[in-house]
Amino acid sequence: MERRPSDDASHRVRAVTGNIMSIARLAFVAAFLMYATAAFAQKFETLARTPQMGWNSWNKFGCNVSEQLIRETADAMVANGMKAAGYQYINIDDCWHGERDARGFIQPNKEHFPSGMKALADYVHARGLKLGIYSDAGWKTCGGKPGSRGYEYQDALTYAEWGIDYLKYDWCNTNGLKAEGAYLTMREALRAAGRPVLFSLCEWGDNQPWQWAKDVGHSWRTTGDIYNCFDCIHDHGTWKSWGVLQILDKQEGLREHAGPDHWNDMDMLEVGNGMSLNEDRAHFSIWVMLASPLIAGNDLRTMSRDTIAILTNKQVIAINQDSLGIQAFRHSVLDGVEFWFKPLENGAWAFMALNRTNESRTINFDWNAGNISDNLSKRAIDAYERGYTLQDLWRKSSPGTTRKPLVAGVAGHDVLLLKLTPR
Ligand code: GLA
Repeated sequence: MERRPSDDASHRVRAVTGNIMSIARLAFVAAFLMYATAAFAQKFETLARTPQMGWNSWNKFGCNVSEQLIRETADAMVANGMKAAGYQYINIDDCWHGERDARGFIQPNKEHFPSGMKALADYVHARGLKLGIYSDAGWKTCGGKPGSRGYEYQDALTYAEWGIDYLKYDWCNTNGLKAEGAYLTMREALRAAGRPVLFSLCEWGDNQPWQWAKDVGHSWRTTGDIYNCFDCIHDHGTWKSWGVLQILDKQEGLREHAGPDHWNDMDMLEVGNGMSLNEDRAHFSIWVMLASPLIAGNDLRTMSRDTIAILTNKQVIAINQDSLGIQAFRHSVLDGVEFWFKPLENGAWAFMALNRTNESRTINFDWNAGNISDNLSKRAIDAYERGYTLQDLWRKSSPGTTRKPLVAGVAGHDVLLLKLTPR
């Protein structure tokens, strides 16, 4: 049969229409995907492959924050070796706020931050550091300043314009709010604002954030506030704050929930704020072993050599920053001394003997007496056949290998911290 020209033409028309239709379909699918990605945005990935390290104003300065303090702290972090040891974030906690302007945009307190937050961020960035800020999911912060409830997108946009890199997001004055939804809203707002921001959840473990926050933020507080003591509970009447050992005991059952980019946060450090040297060393070692964020909470401008030595011990910090990101587990307890193990990359391990008591103890730990294995990571220590050399990370000595039992003294409220390297 003869093909008529008009047939060809109508065929061409159909082909062209078909092409237009498929281009339109593709464009529609692309638009939908963009919408869907925006609507179900994820947190900014890879900002905390290892636990974040930095400084926060709250533990030492409370509401007395100012741009001068932040600038001097940034300078100190560079000068005292903390930056070189891996600390990166300078975080302003509560009370930096002024009022919202007529359009609802938050302003810093003009008296304490006269140059504004953008200038402060520039100052901190110029020193190779990053700036963090604080807000609250409720109507007011814990210090009674304006919260982000109802202003999440505006606040996230403001932080992005200022050049903020880290947001600690608190949970005061949130009556009627649901934690997961409230934190998701801020995650979406940060994502929409477009500047990568490490999102640090601070709802004190009240709503089991370890169950739902892995894709919401980079860390979540597991407890109420730390108190500057090794073994005590401080009762404020309507709420309590917790000593180092009390916070440690609240981590039971949480290790399986932590890993790269999603950490159990045991709260900011009190190292250098008045505990004894032993206690500061033990406090820091515990946070290191449990892969908690390391956020110093003391005055970096005036600290003692002993405090600097604790905060900047690079071999100790390396245990915290190990790439596997596996939190330590408690292996056994004997006579008030706890023995903890943390699997590390390249088949190495960290070992901590924590003396919870007030008196010195002599420990006698036989690496070969029983099984040392981790059900979670499916790793085990082969102390005799393989054997490991021991390095004491605080004393900077080498107390032998795992072929022989370890006999060592540990002072009250102190630790022995070892690295086991396969031979
Ligand atoms: C809460 C937080 C603290 C601190 C204060 C500020 O208590 O848990 O870490 O941010 O608020 O008011």
